[in-house]
Amino acid sequence: MTTDSCTYVIFGATGNLAKLKLIPGFYHLELENKLPDDTRIIAVGRRPWDKQTWTAEVKRFLIEKSGQGLDETIFAKFSARLEYHRGNLDEAECYQALATNVNNQPQFSKNMAFYLAISPGDFSTVIENLSLVALLSEEYGWRRVIIEKPIGYDLESAKALQKRLERHLTEEQIYRIDHYLGKGMVQNVLVFRFANVMLEPLWNRNYIDHIQITHAEDIGIGGRGEYYDGAGAMRDMLQSHLLQLLTLVAMEPPVSMDAEGLRDEKVKVLKSIRPIPKSAVHAHAFRAQYSKGTVKGEKVGGYLDEANIPGDSTTETYAALKVLIDNWRWRGVPFYLRTGKRLAAGQSSISICFRHPPLQFFRDTPVDCMNPNWVLLGIQPEECIRMEMTVKEPGLEMRTRTTSLDASFRNADERQVDAYEDLLLDVMKGDRSLFLRFDEVEYAWRIVDPILQYWATERDYIATYPAGSWGPTESQRLFEKEGQFWRNSLLPDNQ
Ligand code: BG6
Repeated sequence: MTTDSCTYVIFGATGNLAKLKLIPGFYHLELENKLPDDTRIIAVGRRPWDKQTWTAEVKRFLIEKSGQGLDETIFAKFSARLEYHRGNLDEAECYQALATNVNNQPQFSKNMAFYLAISPGDFSTVIENLSLVALLSEEYGWRRVIIEKPIGYDLESAKALQKRLERHLTEEQIYRIDHYLGKGMVQNVLVFRFANVMLEPLWNRNYIDHIQITHAEDIGIGGRGEYYDGAGAMRDMLQSHLLQLLTLVAMEPPVSMDAEGLRDEKVKVLKSIRPIPKSAVHAHAFRAQYSKGTVKGEKVGGYLDEANIPGDSTTETYAALKVLIDNWRWRGVPFYLRTGKRLAAGQSSISICFRHPPLQFFRDTPVDCMNPNWVLLGIQPEECIRMEMTVKEPGLEMRTRTTSLDASFRNADERQVDAYEDLLLDVMKGDRSLFLRFDEVEYAWRIVDPILQYWATERDYIATYPAGSWGPTESQRLFEKEGQFWRNSLLPDNQ
């Protein structure tokens, strides 16, 4: 796919997302020589800055993020693309001036992408205003709008937002970003499954016992108290990123790897997930909040000590969920999803546990004590693919041990591409395969909505876990069988 040149307009350019992900993403694309010549990046912000102050600011935070100096030649090329547009999102003048600015600059590409790195509550204001000044008209070039999760607060608000967007945009113009899909190892799940024949015949209820998907963070909520307290872990991570991972692990081979082919199959998975009625929430979902503790040797406060968090908040910082997929391939195989802040380690992974062998020949122990095979997909920080098998230990005794076949592939000196870099480029290519279609968002809300509604009725209590732990042991109650447990390490027990 060719990369079109484009005028990227970032609303909320002085916020954290732009600073930590978007601008560094563009800069890396410049380093890789991937940005077409007449690509421009217009930052829209409230601060009284101009191109010069913005450029200096960009330089400062790029140096801060990389921890080293910048290549002056590349930065000079990059800074020539930067513009700053001062304006208030609520005021019509902001958009009029933007339109005049863009229309009067022949060197700006006529294709435009609008990145809404702003609070979701402001999405429709921006879209309506862009439409009023004809900036969404595709007369001279394409228009694409990128929106970040959370897409809505629940099913109803997601639908309402969609209705407002649909008045001005077609589905093809909306790029709903889930940055998890831009991660290298997440894309590798598809390659691993569909470019190899060894495992696919085993990838079903006949061989797989259960699947775990974990996103653990050792960090807390940073300076995002206001947003996070209204969202919680279920909305922030599980409804979006973790359910997306589940669709990739569970989907059928698509008719093609293009956007519609992929998304059709992902939606089928979401539609096949057995609804969790409020009466079953206790057996399927668990939530908790971190209290003070020690993370990596450092004492840290609890969630209630964080800035902008009400002292009586019962928002969850840990959420775990058991889902069952009622389709031919997965019927009866539980998928366990969990995410949490301030856990013992930062680690995202998919762990696939196979069934026990039918007979135990090699140890004088019951079959359930024999270690099952696992396929372990490390997403971050370590990207890896491992398969755990049982082998005979060297020596005269017939003793077994677990060993790990490692199919990890990254050389230490290879740069890890940030998810946003890939996705920013996909927008310029018009490749929507790693962006969400609205029905994916809708079905994901259908799954978590009853749980959130149930939790809302018990707002006076929440379980806690000490910061730096792996979360409350009570979440173990979600497991269906004895011998199932949360897998925290991607290495065999005996290593
Ligand atoms: C974001 C969540 O979508 O993803 C954050 O809002 C979370 O709370 C982040 O920390 C995790 O993404 P990554 O790429 O840093 O693992």
